[in-house]
Amino acid sequence: MDTTTAGWTAPPGLEGVVVAETRIGSVRGEEGFYHYGPHPAPALAERCTTEEVWHLLHRGHLPDSDELDRFAATTGRLRALPDDVASALGPIAAIGGSQSLAGPRTALSLLAAAEGFGPWLDLSSDVIHHQAVRLVAVLPTLTASLWRLGQGEDPIAPTPDRPLAEDYLRMVTGSEPLPQHVRALERYLVLTIDHGFNASTFTARTVTSTGADLGSAVVAAMGALSGPLHGGAPSLALDMLQQIGRPDRAAAWVDEALAGGRRIMGFGHRVYRTEDPRSALLKQTAIELGGPIVDLAIEVEGTILEALQRHRPGRELRTNVEYYAGVVLHLVGLPEELFTPTFAISRNIGWTAHAIEQMEANRLIRPRARYVGPPPD
Ligand code: COA
Repeated sequence: MDTTTAGWTAPPGLEGVVVAETRIGSVRGEEGFYHYGPHPAPALAERCTTEEVWHLLHRGHLPDSDELDRFAATTGRLRALPDDVASALGPIAAIGGSQSLAGPRTALSLLAAAEGFGPWLDLSSDVIHHQAVRLVAVLPTLTASLWRLGQGEDPIAPTPDRPLAEDYLRMVTGSEPLPQHVRALERYLVLTIDHGFNASTFTARTVTSTGADLGSAVVAAMGALSGPLHGGAPSLALDMLQQIGRPDRAAAWVDEALAGGRRIMGFGHRVYRTEDPRSALLKQTAIELGGPIVDLAIEVEGTILEALQRHRPGRELRTNVEYYAGVVLHLVGLPEELFTPTFAISRNIGWTAHAIEQMEANRLIRPRARYVGPPPD
């Protein structure tokens, strides 16, 4: 037996283990509730802009109107790309970086290097806060530019005096976004800014704990987010709806999928044993936007919930964030390939806030593993 690691063993997946203290927010899975600081997150999504909640996470409180004006002006200016990074986006898009998170991840890594981001241990708090805001502000521009280049279109420059959600939609689609689309996207973005100690947030804090630069922490978090069990498959629920096509086909489709051992996308959650509160507001948002896909989603949801209840009685498999997120992002005009990159744009606010919190009371994250291989010679 390896006596050097005979101590306490955490369960697989660190399920249920508390590994840090945070003031940023938390998830109460049994209650179906999550919050950012003292504010229930869905309530913020109903009434706040992305910039307001971004200010909450990065500055510790919701801004008054002067603070918001200053914050929006600063973050709007920081949306612009440096010329050398802008000129490198064409090759990144051409090599396959326009269809997934890989492109924005590569481009953000390049930007952090181009702007000389170094180990945070050597930096002042002002510089770190500036870098955090820069990384968040520039990601929509990188994402939209890569997408358009991949479509054979010219990138559209950001407009500093527009809010992030509106400017992102405009830079992707090339047209003036409808106010109801901006509002719906804004709700999605605010709802997905932070969500407890999920895998990408933990990744950002682990990389930060080594003293590495903030760009590395965000790039690593993007890698974690890209996995299909986290944020990497948000279009699968929408694909499923499109495959089902009509409500009367749903029961047979779901029964066949479950009988074949497949998981139904957009249902189930590691922490929630109730409906995911993000799903409830996204469903309401989808209903406000309206359309045949929304009617289909609502009817099919009922059929799937009944089938899952029969399939796993007592397991409480409910609708998660991804079911209606796909519908909403589709209705506001975003292509499926940008669903995960759009998730990264909002979650980047959470990652950078967590990275800064990690810096404030840092201890290198360095757990141990129990050796179970053959004894060494
Ligand atoms: N469809 C069918 N069965 C499901 C299911 C789903 N969406 N989600 C969970 N289950 C079943 C599992 O097969 C498992 O059954 P078993 O005990 O007989 O093996 C049981 O419910 C528990 O699942 P488990 O994998 O322990 O749950 P988890 O907490 O680790 O997984 C998810 C959470 C999100 C990974 C899982 O629910 C899932 O794969 N959902 C579909 C993908 C998805 O929507 N991802 C977005 C997450 S926001």
